[in-house]
Amino acid sequence: MQLTDFAPSLFSLEGKRAIVTGGNTGLGRAFTVALAAAGADVFAPSLAPDDGTTERLVGAHGRRFVFAEADITAPGTPERMVDSCVAQLGGLDILVNSAGISLLDDVLSFDRSKWDPMVAINLTAAFDFAHEAARVMIPQGSGKIVNIASLFSFLGGRQSPAYAATKAGIVGFTRAYADELGEHGIQVNALAPGYFATAITESTRADAASNQRIIDHTPAGRWGDPADLMGPLVFLCSRAADYVNGHTLTVDGGYLVR
Ligand SMILES: NC(=O)c1ccc[n+]([C@@H]2O[C@H](COP(=O)([O-])OP(=O)(O)OC[C@H]3O[C@@H](n4cnc5c(N)ncnc54)[C@H](O)[C@@H]3O)[C@@H](O)[C@H]2O)c1
Repeated sequence: MQLTDFAPSLFSLEGKRAIVTGGNTGLGRAFTVALAAAGADVFAPSLAPDDGTTERLVGAHGRRFVFAEADITAPGTPERMVDSCVAQLGGLDILVNSAGISLLDDVLSFDRSKWDPMVAINLTAAFDFAHEAARVMIPQGSGKIVNIASLFSFLGGRQSPAYAATKAGIVGFTRAYADELGEHGIQVNALAPGYFATAITESTRADAASNQRIIDHTPAGRWGDPADLMGPLVFLCSRAADYVNGHTLTVDGGYLVR
């Protein structure tokens, strides 16, 4: 690329086809709407009931939204979802692994009944979707995979052994897939949101002391707004990021530097 070739159109996702797991709620919805605003159609496998809000927001950009109610941890579901996206949207260019859960408990109470589902959703389902997406992306010689990590990819977390383990695992998995898929023209990166006001952080926000501790620790002086993630996500999915591979981009209002 010549210096004179650089243009805002490098950030466009016009005509791209994307999967966003959990793409109808919370941060997943923000990712879906960001991709649509940049020109992509979105297929969203998710367990959370859909009330049509995301489809309306996507439709406002003239793009298609396909909601598929599914438990992405069920055997064979990721493969079926990728095939269904290709059949309904005509292909797959972008995968955003956003679906995730957070179960909290004290050390002696946090047992396999919490650990196992968190590993299945936060880590294994992300792997399964990336594995199935690679089946489509390798032959076409292009693709973008963005895995949603967390500050707990880097930090410990009280009451959160499985969250910290799965989100650290996401970063390692991202690097391994980036290493292997780069030669196929596919970039695999992670986005690590700080503290955002969604259903997953409801209990933390409801606790006045925890809520204030987070605000005090964040140089931006506030919780993240899901819209704060839209630009960074579009960047990672765009041609402007073609030489960005294996990176974890933190979007946390500066939380980690304090
Ligand atoms: N909110 C935050 O502050 C924050 C911070 C860092 C990382 N994250 C990560 O962002 C991602 C999205 O979280 P959110 O805050 O939007 O939470 P959310 O609870 O609003 O959304 C979670 C989504 O995951 C989906 N999901 C859960 N289990 C599923 C299953 N078995 N099958 C299919 N879909 C399933 C749900 O349907 C839902 O759409 C998660 O990976 C989370 O760990 C969130």
